[in-house]
Amino acid sequence: MNKKAIGMFDSGIGGLTVYRAIKEKIPRERIIYLGDTARLPYGSKSAETIIRFSEENARFLLEKNIKIIVVACNSSSAHALPRLQDLFSIPIVGVIEAGAEAAAKCAKKRIGVIGTAATIRSRAYENAILEKKGTLEILSRDCPLLVPLVEEGWVEHRITRLVVEEYLLPLKDQGIDTLVLGCTHYPVLKNVIAQVLGPQIQLIDSAMTTADRVLRMLRNMGWLNPADEIADDEFHVTDFPERFRKVGEIFLGRKIENVEVAGPLGRI
Ligand code: DGL
Repeated sequence: MNKKAIGMFDSGIGGLTVYRAIKEKIPRERIIYLGDTARLPYGSKSAETIIRFSEENARFLLEKNIKIIVVACNSSSAHALPRLQDLFSIPIVGVIEAGAEAAAKCAKKRIGVIGTAATIRSRAYENAILEKKGTLEILSRDCPLLVPLVEEGWVEHRITRLVVEEYLLPLKDQGIDTLVLGCTHYPVLKNVIAQVLGPQIQLIDSAMTTADRVLRMLRNMGWLNPADEIADDEFHVTDFPERFRKVGEIFLGRKIENVEVAGPLGRI
């Protein structure tokens, strides 16, 4: 198992925050990434559609030489994880559990959770947090405009700050002490979110917490890659590799050279 790769999928580009966090934590692991760019966004779709797309993504990865699947997309993790875990025998990790665990540990009283409409509607973070600490109060808010702003590269832009204020100041006014960044794109906005909320509110980055969890899992199973030399990571998309390459730089801070087209997966 040790030498096999980590398979990872996202609705598109945002999962690169999880890719980056895992690369920083466990640089010796090879990653095979699939971005379903033909069918994004998932955040505005129904549970049924997200489950179907997620299943097709997992089947694509399972044809590669992988030891584990990381569902980097919060919307997919929120709706499809139990179904994927039922269907496939390989270990499958989502981003919600780790984020919820970190949030429940660090929060004192009131937690804000932000994500796509699909993630918030699922109440997946809420349920996972309350399971760990039932006394916490949770305020959830979908923030759909943040995804396109990040993909536009408007990370430090005044418009983005205004949108962040509009979404998050009501949560701050209601006294949250912790905020879960429950979407792949939000870690890119960590600075502006921290500036708007101030130092009293702890931010939980679900990409970082997931990387910790993947490291722990691989270590516990004895599946960490011991080799010094690893082959290049693979990037597959279902459409428009040029855009993935270009926008991917916002997430990774470097160019992604080898992006292959996976072709359409199932029917749209
Ligand atoms: N990757 C999605 C998520 O984390 C955000 C983008 C989308 O809506 O597809 O929920």
